[in-house]
Amino acid sequence: MSIRINPSILAADFANFESELQRIASADYIHVDVMDNHFVPNLTFGLPMVARLQEVTPKPLDVHLMLDNPDRWAPGYAEAGAFSVTFHAEATGDSVGLARRLRDIGARAGIALKPSTPVEDYLELLDEFDQVLVMTVEPGFGGQSFMESTMPKLALLREQVSKTGLDVWLQVDGGINETTIAIAAEAGADTFVAGSSVFRGEPAEQIALLRAAAETHSHD
Ligand code: DX5
Ligand code: ZN
Repeated sequence: MSIRINPSILAADFANFESELQRIASADYIHVDVMDNHFVPNLTFGLPMVARLQEVTPKPLDVHLMLDNPDRWAPGYAEAGAFSVTFHAEATGDSVGLARRLRDIGARAGIALKPSTPVEDYLELLDEFDQVLVMTVEPGFGGQSFMESTMPKLALLREQVSKTGLDVWLQVDGGINETTIAIAAEAGADTFVAGSSVFRGEPAEQIALLRAAAETHSHD
């Protein structure tokens, strides 16, 4: 199984994104947290910032939309060239319709679940998505502690992906470090977002450590 390490630039120096992006050259994708101060109590970047980031980095962007009304906003991120656009299940009444629109534009479509959102409703719909993001903290802020209580959702997803043979990436986001990445990999995740653990040290070293831990503990 391929492992992907996606550093979150929420933990980067906001005044120096271009040089911060160079520090994470060994990343697979760049995770960009868009927050609107409504869906979550924090405000980060919007579409012009994401579009500009995509211009200055050759890395594909993995955009995580923590905003209300993604039906209105998500397609714009796909049109701006984001590789992957993940919206929250809790914020839309039509996850499948929105995912189809994102795919039509040419982006990968991801659906994110807050820690308290059950996964059961989505297991039979997995072919409609390219990625499922199981939040391992309450969305809104970096630097929080990993919630191991979310792992049973990953196990169900991994079982369903194995059973169906679908190529759906299973992402975790929040509190991922060298220790917790092993727990998430064992539960079935293959795509790992890490903010503070990457940027607080030497990013290239941190990415290598995370990748090694994930590979050691991954399913096959
Ligand atoms: C939280 C964001 C995360 C955040 C993770 O709402 O979705 O991507 O940057 O940060 P850490 O790795 O510090 O928990
Ligand atoms: Zn995120």
